[in-house]
Amino acid sequence: MIAILLVAGHATFTLTHPPDGATIHYGDAGAHTNVSLRYRVDVPLAEGRICVEIQRARRGSPAFVWFAEGCFRLDQPLTLMLPTAEPASFLVQAALADGSVALAHARAAFQLAPAPPFEPTYEWAAVLPGATVPVGLEVQMALDGSGTLARIPDPFRLQLSLPAQLGIFRGDVFKASTIGEIAALLDAHALRRLQLHPGMGSRSCADLALGVTRDDGVEHIAALPISVTAEECKLFTHQSQLRVIWRPCEDEHTTVDSS
Ligand SMILES: *[C@@H]1O[C@H](CO)[C@@H](O)[C@H](O)[C@H]1NC(C)=O
Repeated sequence: MIAILLVAGHATFTLTHPPDGATIHYGDAGAHTNVSLRYRVDVPLAEGRICVEIQRARRGSPAFVWFAEGCFRLDQPLTLMLPTAEPASFLVQAALADGSVALAHARAAFQLAPAPPFEPTYEWAAVLPGATVPVGLEVQMALDGSGTLARIPDPFRLQLSLPAQLGIFRGDVFKASTIGEIAALLDAHALRRLQLHPGMGSRSCADLALGVTRDDGVEHIAALPISVTAEECKLFTHQSQLRVIWRPCEDEHTTVDSS
């Protein structure tokens, strides 16, 4: 009896992972994620055993309901396979026993949530486990599993599908490139296309804008000022929203004669 009180009173049994209060991120919604359950026992036990009960509360619900339970030998690694169909909270309650004698209890709560999208910058930044890395980033992956770093390359390669006669534009965009400089690359591209295909019409010049889809599903076009840099308008992140508006060029004397 005294031994039991000593063990329990000295908190020799602690859940160490997932840490109490932690949020664990998953990338693959609709599948599952494996989370190892780890704990610390500071006393030698003859027939150590841990019994675990897990309760789950769906997002927005305060009510925990039974999810899983089991008893395991102390040397047995424990992995929780948790469904990722939706964010949820979990409560782990564990009992440590030696043979048939219960010695101590421990509990920990954690959340399971989708990984927030990785927001790249031009500086190396850690990618949270589970987060999707956008295509085109420079990535450093540590082979020891300690994590992944990613950044926007400077320059990055911008690729735009233009109206049929203008083909595909590919150009290097530096973080300090201005919208005006990028528009000038597009103007030069359009001019080259016109020289190759003189029957194409008159020369066009580009204005750049971002297409932002509103709640009602209608795309709103926001003009990009020519002095703004690619870094300032987060062009890498928004490149799929980049819209090119073609207009007649103002400097008429450089128009290619198509006759
Ligand atoms: C989780 O663990 C189970 C059992 O070991 C395994 O079959 C499954 O592939 C694992 N899932 C992931 C996402 O690692």
